[in-house]
Amino acid sequence: MNDNTRSGTGNNLDPWYGNYAARAAGLAASEVRALFAVASRPEVVSLAGGMPFVSGLPQDLVIDAMNRVMSNQGAAALQYGSGQGVPALREQILDVMALEGIKAGVDDVVVTTGSQHALELVSKLFLDPGDVVLSEGPSYVTAVVIFKSYQAEIEHVPMDEHGLIPEALREHINGLKRAGKRIKFLYTIPTFHNPAGVTLSWERRVEILEICRSEGILVLEDNPYGLLYFEEKPPAAIRSLETDGVIYLGTFSKTLAPGFRVGWALAPHAIREKLILANEAAVLSPSSFSQMIISQYLDTADWKGQIDTFRGIYKERKETMLSALTEYLPDLTWTNPNGGFYVWLTLPDYLDSKQMLPRAVTELVAYTPGTAFFADGQGRNNIRLSFCYPTPEQIKLGIRRLTSVINAERDLLESFSATGPLTAIRRDDNYTAPPPNTN
Ligand SMILES: Cc1ncc(COP(=O)(O)O)c(C=O)c1O
Repeated sequence: MNDNTRSGTGNNLDPWYGNYAARAAGLAASEVRALFAVASRPEVVSLAGGMPFVSGLPQDLVIDAMNRVMSNQGAAALQYGSGQGVPALREQILDVMALEGIKAGVDDVVVTTGSQHALELVSKLFLDPGDVVLSEGPSYVTAVVIFKSYQAEIEHVPMDEHGLIPEALREHINGLKRAGKRIKFLYTIPTFHNPAGVTLSWERRVEILEICRSEGILVLEDNPYGLLYFEEKPPAAIRSLETDGVIYLGTFSKTLAPGFRVGWALAPHAIREKLILANEAAVLSPSSFSQMIISQYLDTADWKGQIDTFRGIYKERKETMLSALTEYLPDLTWTNPNGGFYVWLTLPDYLDSKQMLPRAVTELVAYTPGTAFFADGQGRNNIRLSFCYPTPEQIKLGIRRLTSVINAERDLLESFSATGPLTAIRRDDNYTAPPPNTN
């Protein structure tokens, strides 16, 4: 064994410290990860994770699909498969994407181990150290981790309630060009954004695609939540407008179950060939077993009806969360998503959601602080609240507990600070604090 400690590059905790590739530095664990281990205790209401409510999926449907696969195609399901994915499933994925206005051929689809792995493969294909990825600010935390692990620079472009702001995108691109930076792609979650909960309007989809086309910038469209809408359907996918300049990512994680680990990439021809090679190099083939069960499920179960059931469950949870926020924290602002899993809460700017988190966990409620969703420290006074997993009763309780924490923090800061900016955002004098959390 190499004795790195003796050569001075290791340390007591990790003798291999000096041996890692530079890119491993981008794989830093989130500062709040340790707290989440505590937050997963049953008495804590977690508004933190993005776990779908898998108990809303009748297990019989999965058992039936598994039984059929094992009875009829058992040997194939247990064998290695193609690096591009099971052909029958790729055909069915076309039907899923057609619901979002996408027309494609079965050869254009590459099945991956969740869309997370597609993000990894695209990064592997495109990112060299110092390259720039444009993304919304805030953005999906684990995409940011992957981009950083390829030593890319993440340039956040601001959003408003209609999603990414085209004018801001133009400005950022111009600034980066002036600075001699190489932009590799725009990573975007246009529909029911994680974490912001907003949806890019149709007009902006057209405009943003036009900007990227004219600048020769590839669009990486990540769309795990598009079918989980609450009222009207969201606008069609960006990929419905353009074949050559867009890589589209989809997944069965949120509309079926993440345990299968099956997602996909829809890519222009040349990129697709490289994605298949990268997929083979990484995993040989995505799980045949999972793919065949999903294919069977799509064939025999009422999968669209099941998505409707999920939409109903998540809609009720979102409404519960928003009415609890309205009742308990009426002077704060938050987004009102028309689908997906997340609400983005804005606190008064003198509060720091990361500093407040240990106190929240002590009060038995967990959330994800806004800074987790930025590569550059923004988001200090934001919180992502997930309504996907807890029941409506838990959501109400969680918001009540969160309110106690926020108000205690405000009181503390107000009593230690001079008058001035804090008084301007004091809560309403008629406000009645929720009862202390005894349950
Ligand atoms: C925006 C976004 N992209 C990708 C993923 C990863 O999903 P999958 O389970 O398909 O890997 C998630 C999961 O939460 C997500 O929110």
